[in-house]
Amino acid sequence: MVLHSRVFVLLVLLLLGCSLSSATDDDINCLKSIKASLEDTLGYLNSSWNFNNNTEGYICRFTGIDCWHPDENRVLNIRLSDMGLKGEFPQGIVKCKSMTGLDLSSNMLYGSIPPNISSLIPYVTSLDLSYNNFSGDIPKNLANCSFINILNLDHNNLTGSIPPELTLLNRMKTFTVAANRLTGQIPAFNFSLSAESVANNPGLCGKPLDPCVVTTKNTKTGVIAGAAIGGVTVAAIGVVIGLFFYQRRLSAMRKKDDDPDGNKWTKSLKGVKGIQVSMFGKVVSRMRLSDLLKATNSFHKNNIIGSGRTGTMYIGVLEDGTSLMIKRLQNSQHSDKEFSSEMATLGSVKHRNLVPLLGFCVAKRERLLVYRFMANGTLHDNLHPEDDTNRAVEWSLRLKIGLGAAKGFAWLHHNCNPRILHRNISSKCILLDADFEPKISDFGLARLMNPVDTHLSTFVNGEFGDLGYVAPEYARTLVATPKGDVYSFGVVLLELVTGERPTHVAKAPDGFKGSLVEWITQLSNDGKLHDAIDTSLVGKGVDTEVFQFLKVACNCVLPPPKERPTMFEVYQLIRAIGERYNFTTDDEILMPSDSGNVDYLEELIVAK
Ligand SMILES: *[C@@H]1O[C@H](CO)[C@@H](O)[C@H](O)[C@H]1NC(C)=O
Ligand SMILES: *[C@@H]1O[C@H](CO)[C@@H](O)[C@H](O)[C@H]1NC(C)=O
Ligand SMILES: *[C@@H]1O[C@H](CO)[C@@H](O)[C@H](O)[C@H]1NC(C)=O
Ligand SMILES: *[C@@H]1O[C@H](CO)[C@@H](O)[C@H](O)[C@H]1NC(C)=O
Ligand SMILES: *[C@@H]1O[C@H](CO)[C@@H](O)[C@H](O)[C@H]1NC(C)=O
Ligand SMILES: *[C@@H]1O[C@H](CO)[C@@H](O)[C@H](O)[C@H]1NC(C)=O
Ligand SMILES: *[C@@H]1O[C@H](CO)[C@@H](O)[C@H](O)[C@H]1NC(C)=O
Repeated sequence: MVLHSRVFVLLVLLLLGCSLSSATDDDINCLKSIKASLEDTLGYLNSSWNFNNNTEGYICRFTGIDCWHPDENRVLNIRLSDMGLKGEFPQGIVKCKSMTGLDLSSNMLYGSIPPNISSLIPYVTSLDLSYNNFSGDIPKNLANCSFINILNLDHNNLTGSIPPELTLLNRMKTFTVAANRLTGQIPAFNFSLSAESVANNPGLCGKPLDPCVVTTKNTKTGVIAGAAIGGVTVAAIGVVIGLFFYQRRLSAMRKKDDDPDGNKWTKSLKGVKGIQVSMFGKVVSRMRLSDLLKATNSFHKNNIIGSGRTGTMYIGVLEDGTSLMIKRLQNSQHSDKEFSSEMATLGSVKHRNLVPLLGFCVAKRERLLVYRFMANGTLHDNLHPEDDTNRAVEWSLRLKIGLGAAKGFAWLHHNCNPRILHRNISSKCILLDADFEPKISDFGLARLMNPVDTHLSTFVNGEFGDLGYVAPEYARTLVATPKGDVYSFGVVLLELVTGERPTHVAKAPDGFKGSLVEWITQLSNDGKLHDAIDTSLVGKGVDTEVFQFLKVACNCVLPPPKERPTMFEVYQLIRAIGERYNFTTDDEILMPSDSGNVDYLEELIVAK
């Protein structure tokens, strides 16, 4: 094997040597041009990239430069991750003709990815532009960088859709575009794409995310015209480099670039681990970012317990054994000051049916929220267990959960100060503590997100709330309202009473493709509403209660917002159904004093 590789290197060098005579001058000029075109805010290039030394191979000692051979000025890889570099994509890189790996991640690069990128870096096998501020489209010309194995474009400001041409990159194994502003259908790659690698875009849909909702005829569909990538005039030499490099990189790739734990971002926190976590209560007196890192095994992917529009939730265990939940907020557009003041507000919002926010931490670009741990996970996972063990939740517990959640939402809408619209209600935001008491999470976070509510596509693609929970009027009005929350909660109540998922109804007849609400509406029109009830609840002496509960849920999802009850009324109705169980104890919701003309925190922020 080793011998084989050596022969390969020799062959490559030989070929390079005879075909590209002035290659090395080019490589020096390449680095000079890169240095000149980037603002070196931390002085890394300034101190290391000194061109006054003319010994052969001197550029190979530069920070971030690997050469094919240490005594020859021929650049193999450029790795300038996290060096405080600012500017546009360095066009001068075209002169590094033998370069096969480019890592410019975690800098402050902006502007568009050059539309002729394949002429600039034709032989690149690994391209990492993640954690910058690149904007504009993903150029379809990337499909002509035919040696690409790894393409990381996550955490930028890219818009438009993912070009279907990229599926022609048949060596590609890793592709990440998470946390951009991409929309549209994800094209079908022939390797498995994780949901994480495309997460946190306002309008992406299709595998591995939720299916696209086809509402308009003119949705852009990815037309892959089977256009073979044909005409690429790759010189024989390029092929040789590509093949050779492909072999060589396989092992290195697994070690470094794959980021299998998905926690590469924690790297940028190295210097700030001492930052104090601001705590609201006295659960944990003093805590630093380093404690959170330790508790979550540096936010290891095995610690992820959920993720959604507002960010990813991790479980953390402190040294004293206390469990916590830590939310890494999806990139928020608010300044540190605004964010801290928001947190102070949310920290003071306390109710028996809300997940307590214990503290928060701002570290560089990261915003971390610390919550009390909820032992029994989400309502969603309890109702729809992955493993199909079919441990049906019994009726009294479903009623208790519906009631507690209604109480929490009614309190947010009518009694808390300031009043809060949730905007993202689903069975995933209702968590269950050790006693199965429901606790609402994610309240007050929707408005910390990018103002996606101005983009129609985010409604169409169900990103405004989880698919299946979005009130129909949102697609027209684009305005979050209390009745929109009631609709979403109605869908949760339907899940409780039918045991079905909001988007896929297992019990529906073959060929039915509608949502849970559409199924219920159809049954109701046919006078067969009873058929909707979860069979595990039927004939247990609670039929009347269950049916009343179903009626309340149906009222919440009526199409005209005006005909839906208020959250306070929903709470009162469910309370009446559960009267005999003596669930309700303390802190009753007060009768709302308002006449309906109230400012919600939500709208205040939008107006700001
Ligand atoms: C770069 O180096 C030059 C001299 O070597 C110095 O004058 C300049 O201040 C340095 N710039 C930075 C950003 O360190
Ligand atoms: C040039 O670089 C070589 C190799 O790094 C080093 O040994 C030599 O001292 C340098 N010469 C000058 C003039 O900096
Ligand atoms: C790539 O495009 C830029 C401007 O868009 C142009 O200046 C440059 O010459 C092009 N490079 C190549 C190699 O085509
Ligand atoms: C990113 O670039 C846009 C313009 O392209 C600019 O408005 C914005 O401030 C930049 N953001 C950061 C964090 O540098
Ligand atoms: C790739 O390059 C070939 C030849 O230069 C060109 O015909 C083709 O359109 C390019 N494909 C893309 C996706 O840019
Ligand atoms: C993304 O780009 C838009 C407009 O180009 C800009 O207003 C916004 O600040 C950018 N976002 C980030 C995170 O830089
Ligand atoms: C993807 O397709 C290419 C050819 O189009 C093939 O060489 C490669 O093995 C495929 N990869 C997988 C994982 O199927």
